[in-house]
Amino acid sequence: MFRLFLSCCNLNSSLLCRTTASEICKVNYSDRAVKSSKNILYTQTIQKMHIPALRLNNGNVIPAIGYGTSRENDEALEKALDSALKAGYRHIDTAHFYMNEKPIGNVLNRWITEGKLKREEIFLVTKLPPFGNRPAGVKKYLKQSLENLQVEYVDLYLIHGPFGVKDVEEVPHPGISSGNFELDTTDILSVWKEMENQMNAGLAKAIGVSNFNKSQIERLLKNCTIKPSCLQIEIHGYLQQNELVDFCKTNNIIVTAFSPLGSRSMTSFSAKRGTKLDLPDVLSDPTIQKIAKKHSKTEAQVMLRFDIQRGIIPIPKSSNPERMQQNLDIFEFELDEQDLKELKSLDAGIRFFHFRNVGCIAEHPEYPFENKF
Ligand SMILES: NC(=O)c1ccc[n+]([C@@H]2O[C@H](COP(=O)([O-])OP(=O)(O)OC[C@H]3O[C@@H](n4cnc5c(N)ncnc54)[C@H](OP(=O)(O)O)[C@@H]3O)[C@@H](O)[C@H]2O)c1
Repeated sequence: MFRLFLSCCNLNSSLLCRTTASEICKVNYSDRAVKSSKNILYTQTIQKMHIPALRLNNGNVIPAIGYGTSRENDEALEKALDSALKAGYRHIDTAHFYMNEKPIGNVLNRWITEGKLKREEIFLVTKLPPFGNRPAGVKKYLKQSLENLQVEYVDLYLIHGPFGVKDVEEVPHPGISSGNFELDTTDILSVWKEMENQMNAGLAKAIGVSNFNKSQIERLLKNCTIKPSCLQIEIHGYLQQNELVDFCKTNNIIVTAFSPLGSRSMTSFSAKRGTKLDLPDVLSDPTIQKIAKKHSKTEAQVMLRFDIQRGIIPIPKSSNPERMQQNLDIFEFELDEQDLKELKSLDAGIRFFHFRNVGCIAEHPEYPFENKF
C-alpha cells in the first residue's frame, strides 16, 4: 500500500495530487460526497489490486484505467467481461454503436444479482451513436442503452462523435457493413443541451464527448450550462495529442485514451471485412521495447503507464485474461524523465480511426480531424 501511495504521489499530472492514507479507500464511484479537495486521487482495492481513480469536474470519481469492449462477438465478450471483472476492472467502456451493450448488461446483471457487485461499484460509460446526433436522438438512444445495459443510469454518457448521420431503423453494424449512412446536419449545441437535460433527469451521472476537436469543445464551453467532464480520443505512442490534452487539462476535462495500445486487432479485423489497412504496430517500436526491457515490463504496460503519468485514463481492450491482468498491473512502477522524453519523441501524428466506415463522414461540416488538433 505504501509503495502504491508513493507511486500515486509521483503521477506527473496537475490533475493528480497528494492524498493521505485515510483517503485511500474503497470508493463508491457515484458518491458526490467523497470528502476531499478537488481532483484528488483515490484508490479502490479490488482482488488485491489497487486501482487509482481521478476526480471528474462534476465531483464524481472515475477509475484511472478502463476496460475497452469493441470488436468482440457477444459470446466472447460475455466471457471476456467476466474475466475483466474478476481481474478488477470497474470502469467499462461501451457504445450503442458497438452493438454490444446487451451482453455487457447480461454480465453486469449476473454479477449484481449474485451479490458479487453493487451497481455503484461500477463506472459504466456508453455513447450516443452518430445516427442519434440530434436533440430527440439523445433521449431515444440513451433510453435504449439503459435498457440494453439493464441499469437505471450510466456514470458517463458521451457524444460518440461531433458528426451526425440520418437516423436508421435497422442499425448496420459498423464492423460488418460499410454502413449506408446518409449525412445529416448536426447542431452540437442543441445536442449538448439535451445531454444536460438527461443528466439533470439522473439518467447519466456525467456527460462528455468523444472525437471532438479543440474548437468544437470551445464552442460547447462557451454555450453550456454543464461543462463536459471527459473527452475520449485516440491516443497511443504514434498519436499523443499533446495540445488537445493540455487544452482539456486547462479546462478541467478528463481525457480518456482509446486504442491506447495502437488497436492491434484493427488490421486483421478490417481485413476479414474486406478493407486492407496498413497500420504500424506501435508495440513493436524498438524504443518501447527497450524501455519495457529496462523496467522488466511488457511494451503494453509501458504505454499504459505513459498515459497514467500524463494524467490520461487508458481503456485497453483484451479478451485474454493474462493480458487483462497485465494491463492493470501498471501502478507500481514508474517511467523516469529519460523514458518520458524518448516516448514523447515517438509522436508522429498517425491516426488509425478516421471513421470512414460511417459513410462519407469526412464530408460532414463537423468532421473533426481536418485541423491539427
Ligand atoms: N470513442 C471511440 O470512437 C473509440 C474508438 C475505438 C475504440 N474505443 C474504445 O477503446 C477501446 C480500446 O481500443 P481498441 O480496442 O481499438 O485498441 P487497444 O486497446 O489499443 O488494442 C486492443 C488490442 O491489443 C491487444 N492487447 C491487449 N492487451 C495487450 C497486451 N498486454 N499485450 C499485447 N497486446 C495486447 C488485444 O488483443 P487480445 O484481446 O488478444 O489481448 C487487441 O488486439 C475499445 O475497445 C473501445 O471500448 C473508442
